[in-house]
Amino acid sequence: MPPAMGRTPRLAHPPCGHAHPIIAAMPADSAKLVYLETFGCQMNELDSELVTTQLRALGYRFTPDAEQAGVILYNTCSVREQAEQKVWSRLGIMRQRKARQPDLLLGVLGCMAERDGRDLLRKFPHVDLLCGPGELDKLPLLLRNASTTAEPAIALQGNTSRRSATLAAAEDSLERLDLSRSFAPDDQRAAGRSSYVRITRGCNKFCTYCVVPFTRGAEMHRPPDTIVDECRMLVQRGVVEVTLLGQTVNHYRFEHDAAVSIDGVMQPQKGRSFTGGHERDPVTGGRVTTFADLLRRIHDEVPALRRLRFVTSYPRDFGDDVLEVIRDCPRLCRYIHVPVQSGSNRILEAMNRGYTVEEYRDFIERIRAHLPGAMIASDVIVGFPGETEEDFEATVDLMRWARFKNCFVFKYSRRPGTPAYDRLPDDVPDEAKRRRNNALLALQGAISRAIHVEHIGRTVEVFVEGMSTVQNRREPVLAGEGLRPRIAAGVTGLTINGLSLLADEEGDCGTACAAAVAAPEWGESAIVQLSGRTEGDLITVFDAPRERAQSLVGAIVAVRIDEARTLTLKGTLLE
Ligand code: 5AD
Ligand code: SF4
Repeated sequence: MPPAMGRTPRLAHPPCGHAHPIIAAMPADSAKLVYLETFGCQMNELDSELVTTQLRALGYRFTPDAEQAGVILYNTCSVREQAEQKVWSRLGIMRQRKARQPDLLLGVLGCMAERDGRDLLRKFPHVDLLCGPGELDKLPLLLRNASTTAEPAIALQGNTSRRSATLAAAEDSLERLDLSRSFAPDDQRAAGRSSYVRITRGCNKFCTYCVVPFTRGAEMHRPPDTIVDECRMLVQRGVVEVTLLGQTVNHYRFEHDAAVSIDGVMQPQKGRSFTGGHERDPVTGGRVTTFADLLRRIHDEVPALRRLRFVTSYPRDFGDDVLEVIRDCPRLCRYIHVPVQSGSNRILEAMNRGYTVEEYRDFIERIRAHLPGAMIASDVIVGFPGETEEDFEATVDLMRWARFKNCFVFKYSRRPGTPAYDRLPDDVPDEAKRRRNNALLALQGAISRAIHVEHIGRTVEVFVEGMSTVQNRREPVLAGEGLRPRIAAGVTGLTINGLSLLADEEGDCGTACAAAVAAPEWGESAIVQLSGRTEGDLITVFDAPRERAQSLVGAIVAVRIDEARTLTLKGTLLE
């Protein structure tokens, strides 16, 4: 699907009927060409999509070629140092370009902007703009200010990031960014696509290794009516699959008695999640929309939605009611990504995860009992401070037992500002981290391959995402190493305009944003290999005649599985 570059923006009114304030911030030069590169998780991908929509509506255009762009934006990730290093290197390269081209606007968006703040400007004084993930609705204004003044334009939450309990009484301006999809509909890009819908922002869990609560602020839940409307609107434009996003998505909970509207816009609500284990929420009767209620509402009220998914789940307080909804609603995918992080209770405690290995195992057993055949994925960190060989072996045991369909393995990365940074020495030698990392990747590779082998001979439904060129290129390398069973941090191989891209070896994706990437080139060969996903998120490739390839992208097709690899299933398209 070609990007809608240079189209005249259509400005619609939001559901409330009010004009969106960003419309007032038209750039003086509407020919501004933007290069936007996105790093990190699905939240960042969604933020980039919303930023793109917002800027397009203001007359900006996008290019996949950084050399051509007059505005360069990096939407950044701080979760591990490696993700930050990539941006530092980009910024270093841009120093010379900026010297050559002083009117170039260079902006850092997202978690690095929020975490580093003015320190980043000291290191990279040629950066013109900093915008934290909680301030992205202000980007148009920042761009205008940065182009008219010599001072850097900055919008960060800083110390106000832990929002007060009374925030619901104040307008949540970021909600406007999420709502902006309603302002600049773009049916052409939506058709046959998979889309993210944010239901919860921020995180209250404070795992000791993690920067997210500091960069994305406190947990805020969006109103259920808004979420259902957004799903409905996306489906009307041709979206086939919706993935609900939240750092701890299953802790979604909206209390209707405390709902606040401002100018006709229902405001997100600070998280006061139910902490009742796998019991049901006692406050029912329409006063609370729980996560299970939300899933059922979307499933029932948006019947044309073919697939509904959610990431990322937290192992605690995942009620049986959610599992029952998944069991009873056929279009809810039987796939749960629920990071365990470690198989050792001692390490889980030091991580402040709030559950034990026994409780995690109990949860996996409940999933298996309610949803036979469900695919479960996880994340693990190796080399957390104090992790002994014994702790590591406990993680190996857990992974053997759990049989995740895939598990993203990360070496602990000490992050400034986190509780572990201040309190716990990074005492596991790098060599041990690497060895443990490789051992878990090899173990998971074997498990993933065995799960894939079990699929041989079965017919699966595949949502076709696009060509599999990158898999083709990468697979021999991956198979040769016998390692790397993962696709990307937080589940995804990125799909951009129907083109699937694998993440790099550590799972940190850096890729030009969807708006900026050209449509797939179908080439000349008579047969094209396409790639898609099963309900359980297994990547499946199959051959299709070239003339049909384009029309199959976005469809859900039946594929008989013939071959199993570590990363993918390979099958035959059934007519
Ligand atoms: N070091 C290594 N991995 C981390 N993650 C989060 N913070 C860190 C860190 N400091 C991993 C966790 C999380 C995933 C998104 O990233 O496994 O689930
Ligand atoms: Fe980070 Fe823990 Fe929150 Fe996940 S739950 S975003 S790991 S603090």
